[in-house]
Amino acid sequence: MTSLVAHVGGVAVFDDLLPGKLLAHVRAAAESQDYAAREHKGIAYEGVGTEIPYDPWPVLSRALGRQVRPVIYEGRPLTFFRRSRHGEDSTTWIHPDTGVDGEFAGVLYLSEPGGPGYGTAFWSHQEHGAQLDPAELTPELAAQLDRDGQDDERWQLVGFVAQRVNRFVTYPVSLFHSRMPQRVPADHRDRLIQAFFFD
Ligand SMILES: [Fe+2]
Repeated sequence: MTSLVAHVGGVAVFDDLLPGKLLAHVRAAAESQDYAAREHKGIAYEGVGTEIPYDPWPVLSRALGRQVRPVIYEGRPLTFFRRSRHGEDSTTWIHPDTGVDGEFAGVLYLSEPGGPGYGTAFWSHQEHGAQLDPAELTPELAAQLDRDGQDDERWQLVGFVAQRVNRFVTYPVSLFHSRMPQRVPADHRDRLIQAFFFD
């Protein structure tokens, strides 16, 4: 059964999101499908898989205890698999998800962690704090955050959620966050997650 294991600073963590049979089906689909670069609002993201073999929204609604409304992008609810592998360093590392419409993002881990440092980190920027107000986003600030997003010297680590298969972490899109580690080592397996965006 799904259980809430932490709820701190707007970040909520649930274990055992999917029932066992469905989890196996979803992991098999994530492991076997084609991944490609996809564009979202003009930015290309590597390692995106779009063949989602189930309807996740009732599952999320049940876990969160409220009716979840998916962000609709190009006529489809916005959820996809994401694969990170050695040598594929896609897009900015530390970032907010405010480029997506909707209030919340979610990540469901589908692969085993490569070690204890695997998961999702939350960060506070030296000058701009732990979250981005989209109303304050100027082109200059966007450029600075893009630059600083590759350099953890500009940030303080404020939270960490460890990767675990079937663990679901959800957070407001305004929070600065990153995958951990920044780069998948050569001798480690691919990192597979399913991402969700919703209100
Ligand atoms: Fe993100």
